Parts: sequence; C-alpha cells; structure tokens
Amino acid sequence: MLQVKRVEKSYAKGGIFSKERQQVLNRVTFDCREGECLGIIGESGSGKSTLGRLILGIEKPDSGSVLFDGKKLKKSLSKSGIISVVFQNYKSSINPFFTVQQAIMEPMEITSRNTMESRKKVVWLLNQVGLPSSYLNKYPHELSGGEVQRVCIARAISTEPKCIILDEAISSLDVSIQTQILELLKRLKDTHNISYLFITHDIQSAAYICDRIIIFKNGQIEEIVKTENLKNTQSAYAKQLLKSLMIY
Ligand SMILES: Nc1ncnc2c1ncn2[C@@H]1O[C@H](COP(=O)(O)OP(=O)(O)OP(=O)(O)O)[C@@H](O)[C@H]1O
Ligand SMILES: [Mg+2]
Repeated sequence: MLQVKRVEKSYAKGGIFSKERQQVLNRVTFDCREGECLGIIGESGSGKSTLGRLILGIEKPDSGSVLFDGKKLKKSLSKSGIISVVFQNYKSSINPFFTVQQAIMEPMEITSRNTMESRKKVVWLLNQVGLPSSYLNKYPHELSGGEVQRVCIARAISTEPKCIILDEAISSLDVSIQTQILELLKRLKDTHNISYLFITHDIQSAAYICDRIIIFKNGQIEEIVKTENLKNTQSAYAKQLLKSLMIY
C-alpha cells in the first residue's frame, strides 16, 4: 500500500546559506501493508519525524520516492486525506480558538462540504473516540491532555484515511492515559482497517500495538523485525531499550 523507496534527505548545516549539509535520511526503503501497524523506533535526532513529513508530502525528498498503491501522487498524501497525522504536542496541534466541532471538521472540508451531514459525522467521530456529544462546543483549554489527544485522533480519522502517522502521539500523556489511548488506537485500526506508522521512543508501547518494528539509527534502517521476534533483535539500540525494561 505505502512504499518508501530509497528516500534521501539532507538539510543545510548552520543556516540556508551554508554549503555544508547534514544527511538526515539515507536510502530509506520499506513498505507498510494495508491494516498494518508499523513501528519506527530510534534515538532522538535519528530522522523519524523528518521521514513522517516526507511521507505526508509536507516536504520533498532529495531523491527517492513515496508511492501509494504503486503510484506517486501529485497532491500530497495529507492534502488528499489519504494519510493523517497525530503529533506529540497536541496542545499546539489544535487551534485554541476552535471548538471541538470546528477542530474535527477542519480536515473534513476536503471530503465533505455538506455541513449538516458533517455535524452528524462529528458526533459519530466523537463517539468513536469515547467522548460524548456534549464536547462539541468545548474549547481545547477546557479539556484534559488525554481528551485533546482523543479529539486529535477523531480529526485524524475524519477523512477516512488509509494510514495515520502517529508521531510520539502518546508520549506526553501519563501512563494510564497512554494505555487507554493505545487501546482506542488498536480498536480503531481493527474496525476501520487503517494502517499506522507508529513513531516512538517507547519500545514497550511499540511492542504492544505494532505488527513490525523498524529500528532506525542515524537516518538509516538498521533492522526491521516482526514484533514477536523483538527479543532476538540484532540492533544494539533495541537491545539496550529492551534491557532497560528488564530492570522494572
Ligand atoms: N527543517 C530542518 N532544517 C534543518 N535541520 C533539520 C530540519 N528538520 C530536522 N532537522 C535535523 O534533522 C535531524 C533529524 O530530526 P528529526 O526531527 O527528524 O529527528 P527525530 O528522530 O524525529 O527526533 P526526536 O525523537 O527527538 O523527535 C536533526 O538533527 C534535526 O536537527
Ligand atoms: Mg521527532
């Protein structure tokens, strides 16, 4: 379904006039199947979010391609509603002057222009993420972190995407809320047959929700492992993460 082929990306080091460049992604190749949850774990600065932006089409790779169902799309995948994204800093990802209804309807304008129908859909979407319809007219500052993240997830599924990129989407929530959101994501994935690219530092939550996990290091794929084989990983980074879990 989603194919990333030999993607390379570099940024100018020390400002746009600098000739020196920092290679952020190096020949990244993988695919994500329909309905699959693919984890991407790696150290801070290894290029995970950059990869997410390239897949969304917010930025262009220097070389290589992102294909969807074998085709390169003219319109970015996020603009076409095929892929949605949920970020970590949920507080800044929702416009503070938007009500819950407006926030969820924002990306829906792409696929649905009928407001009466879309209002009904917003209520249905709220219901999907476990929030009552009384939340329609609330503002983000009236919600808890976990509730805002539920609204972000409702917004992400509103365009009926084939895939959602979750970039550290649950990392800033406390652990009990993380578990609730993981449960919600798992349920939504199964009922709507959505694929996830689950970007995280947290090997435990990746192991909980992912089918396969990409171990990412310095902009390169070190290893792709099936979650059930995670214990046999060759990657030093993954081994270290797993070891730190054993302590608890
Ligand atoms: N727009 C940009 N201009 C210049 N350098 C950038 C830009 N975006 C990212 N970088 C650099 O690319 C590298 C990878 O950044 P990226 O945000 O993709 O890492 P990450 O793996 O998501 O890290 P984290 O786990 O901390 O979120 C970093 O060294 C960063 O400074
Ligand atoms: Mg990041």
